[in-house]
Amino acid sequence: MIHKIEAFLHISLKAIKETARFITGSSKPRDKYEMEMLIIAHALEKGMVNKDPRLGYGVEKAIRLIELMGQYLNRYGRRKYAIEESIAVLDAYIEFSNAKKVNIEKVVSGRRKLYQKYKIIPNTSEYKGGAKTYTRQELLDTGVIEPEKFFERRRSVRNFSGEKVSDKIIQRAAELAANAPSACNRQPSKIRYSETRIVNDEIGSYIAGNAGFKENISTYLVVSAKVSGYQNNEMFAWYIDGGIFTAYVMQAFFSLGIGSCIFQWEQFCKNENKIKRLLDIQSDECIIAIIAIGQYEETVKCVCAQRKSIREILIKINNKGE
Ligand SMILES: Cc1cc2nc3c(=O)[nH]c(=O)nc-3n(C[C@H](O)[C@H](O)[C@H](O)COP(=O)(O)O)c2cc1C
Repeated sequence: MIHKIEAFLHISLKAIKETARFITGSSKPRDKYEMEMLIIAHALEKGMVNKDPRLGYGVEKAIRLIELMGQYLNRYGRRKYAIEESIAVLDAYIEFSNAKKVNIEKVVSGRRKLYQKYKIIPNTSEYKGGAKTYTRQELLDTGVIEPEKFFERRRSVRNFSGEKVSDKIIQRAAELAANAPSACNRQPSKIRYSETRIVNDEIGSYIAGNAGFKENISTYLVVSAKVSGYQNNEMFAWYIDGGIFTAYVMQAFFSLGIGSCIFQWEQFCKNENKIKRLLDIQSDECIIAIIAIGQYEETVKCVCAQRKSIREILIKINNKGE
């Protein structure tokens, strides 16, 4: 009974802290604007891939988007993803509606006024909005010739050769991982990385699961996710988005010939504030995982880590009454 009470108090305290982190983070006006703009932009963009979109869909949303963009630009200026994405999607939406000969004059004139007022020239080379069509053949051509190898040979590597992983490779892996899906494409994740001995010694000392091999680690990545880009009904969605992103990071490094090992991070542990201060992680970001990366040695000893039988994982739902 005592154990149960202890567990209840421990978990409840963490849940309260998580809620406080979310509420404080998501009450920042700038983040609120960005969240709403991205959710609307995403809804407009999704409408453009529907097989049979309702004619004139999205007018109210587009008008609201223009209103938010105006308020945002007035307060904060441009240069951020949320605004560039909104511009790209809004323009695509207008083009899409024009092609379907739908009258969206209110949206068009709202856009005109907004663009004139803030001298907006869309950055079309970097930001694309709307629908993109692939041929079936393009999607079948994944470039992964042996999927089993690609997934089965990614194993946690805990000993590295000591040779540096170049910034170029790290940047490339981050670019690959940025393709990870996220709820409404909000992309809450960030990667910070350190190759500095003194910083790594400190990071290493905060990790519980690196005993026996922390001396071999010369590059740590810290994956975090911003909790403030979500709505009240999306509690904990940042862990899902951040977790998927983390998996992409590992697979990206693997595809580039670099070994990695994820380390678990306990939320609100006693060292959380220390590591956040050390790496300048904001209060509305949660640490998803810490990852060691490095070059392979000539032979690499990994844990077998036998997977469950597929019978224990895959469940086919029987058709009922068919
Ligand atoms: C969220 C998460 C936390 C992990 N934490 C640790 C850790 O603290 N220390 C460690 O040595 N390995 C850690 N691992 C690696 C797992 O032990 C490993 O992924 C699992 O045993 C499967 O083995 P494989 O990665 O070699 O396929 C972690 C993995 C994940 C996904």
